[in-house]
Amino acid sequence: MGVSRGRRGGGASARADVGPAAVDPYRAVDRQSDPRRFARLLEARGSQRHQARLRRGFLAFAGVGPYLHVLDVGCGTGVVTRDIAARVGARGRVVGVDPSRTLLQMARRRITASAPGTRPTFRHGDGLALPFAPASFDVTLAVTVLLHVPGSDRVLAEMRRVTRPGGRVAVLDQDFGTLALDVPDRVLTRRIVDGHAERFYAEPWSGRTLARRLRGAGLSRVRGRVFAVVDRVYDAYVRSMLGRRVELAVAWRLVTPAEGRRWLDGLEDVAARGDFFMSLNYYGAVGVRR
Ligand SMILES: C[S@@+](CC[C@H](N)C(=O)[O-])C[C@H]1O[C@@H](n2cnc3c(N)ncnc32)[C@H](O)[C@@H]1O
Repeated sequence: MGVSRGRRGGGASARADVGPAAVDPYRAVDRQSDPRRFARLLEARGSQRHQARLRRGFLAFAGVGPYLHVLDVGCGTGVVTRDIAARVGARGRVVGVDPSRTLLQMARRRITASAPGTRPTFRHGDGLALPFAPASFDVTLAVTVLLHVPGSDRVLAEMRRVTRPGGRVAVLDQDFGTLALDVPDRVLTRRIVDGHAERFYAEPWSGRTLARRLRGAGLSRVRGRVFAVVDRVYDAYVRSMLGRRVELAVAWRLVTPAEGRRWLDGLEDVAARGDFFMSLNYYGAVGVRR
């Protein structure tokens, strides 16, 4: 079941793999009908100016700088890995690890010899059992990964294990309890947005839990920071993100197809007036391995 946009067309359309059993595709990108779609989505997100600012802020907060040996867990297509490579410089090292071979292939293709910094290497592997010896890295990071992984405390334990004593573990996640949209129908918005978050992510409120969970994983001197991301442009990435939420809300019978269409048309109207507003909090946390 799908929702086509009533007045303006395009965007959310019927897809065979949408249904009550649909789960977060980032848990198993390679098993999706079009795995490369997720590579395109990650690169589209990564190319947004506010996302580049978010990465700069988070990497500075995590203390990623020259000469360090850094691991990027759940690196996807390498959006964050490439930024890390530029920060650690030619004398540093960065390794990206991910369970998706499709995303890793894209990550390798996107590295150019002329890019600043060290040349990243990419390795196939699961954050639940990282393929590295203990104390291998100065800094271990995971950016928008934990919320997708059931049982992600195990990922934190693994990140701690592969980080050297005195090194840092740093994590960043969205918190979908903070997704705010300026649209007229609050009741319908909650049904779509909160209904989707509850059913889709392993931990939709992951962001706010991170500092507590780093302390629970045995890290010391844990600090947290909130990064608010604001979208004022209803671009292709945001359209796809919200359109997908409506498709699933219809498939899960949280809203009718007509309600879904009305909601998307309302967003188009707001955007046409130049009033589109969406914000989402990302939370970062960093701690030191004793
Ligand atoms: C939303 S993407 C984020 C990718 C990248 N960190 C970025 O910010 O562009 C989530 C990533 O987590 C990866 N992932 C899913 N399950 C994982 C696991 N068990 N261990 C490590 N990574 C995992 C996915 O393959 C995907 O690349």
